[in-house]
Amino acid sequence: MNLPLSANDAPVGIFDSGVGGLSVLRHIRAQLPHEHLLYFADSGFAPYGDKPEHVIAERSLMVARFLIERGAKALVVACNTATVAAIALLRERYPKLPIVGVEPGLKPGAAATRNGKVGVMATEGTLAGDKFLLLRDQIRAATATEFLLQPCHGLADQIELGELDSDATTRLLEHYIVPLLDAGADTLVLGCTHYPLVQASIERVISDATAREVVLIDTGEAVARQLARRLQAAGTARTAAGPGTLDGYTTASATALSAAFNSLLGIDPPVHEVAFPPFAG
Ligand code: DGL
Repeated sequence: MNLPLSANDAPVGIFDSGVGGLSVLRHIRAQLPHEHLLYFADSGFAPYGDKPEHVIAERSLMVARFLIERGAKALVVACNTATVAAIALLRERYPKLPIVGVEPGLKPGAAATRNGKVGVMATEGTLAGDKFLLLRDQIRAATATEFLLQPCHGLADQIELGELDSDATTRLLEHYIVPLLDAGADTLVLGCTHYPLVQASIERVISDATAREVVLIDTGEAVARQLARRLQAAGTARTAAGPGTLDGYTTASATALSAAFNSLLGIDPPVHEVAFPPFAG
């Protein structure tokens, strides 16, 4: 007989347009090793970053519903673009569910800079979103930091292809990063969850371009901490001693997501292909 899962044993649902959210998942697994996790990669619909906001909002609602139907007790929107486009709608639709989003780390960026110039690398969708611009204006007013916004078209696609340090990826990184360094940025915010997955290549491009020390900001660890706080506050953190499980879902090929789990996190969880209805947007 299958006993119903208690709320504490229910899984946490995590989603991104693709493999980018693995940069957040790794911190969640490290900080919350007992939690059962569902990871949804919408790789069949990636990238999110250059699609209109209302399309990403609709799509995020579909993905969230899928995860909630599988028992998710909390959601992590492990995607800056989807957070900007959809988090308000998701919270409105599921008011009792803890929902944690990811936003470019402008506040830690402002705290880290020594010269007041912070480059922000993100998708076009994130940088054009009202939610992001409001955050930028608030932090700029409070700290007098100058934020240099750099949309990185095509970078998430390279990472989806598994090209973490190919020549093409390096050229793209140089194209986006060198102008930020030339403009004086001493801190770079990685405002898309795909980008920490190429941190080694980013560091190489920086050290080839300048002798200056440049700080990189990634909010994955802070997001995992926030999830832990929200589960504690809701009284639904898993208390059983056994290790948590992980299941992967993808709207593209299971082989590709399995390869990403293996190469990026060194793990081999079960991965399921999901066929979403055709999406008009
Ligand atoms: N990983 C996503 C983000 O954090 C977006 C990548 C994309 O699909 O464009 O914004």
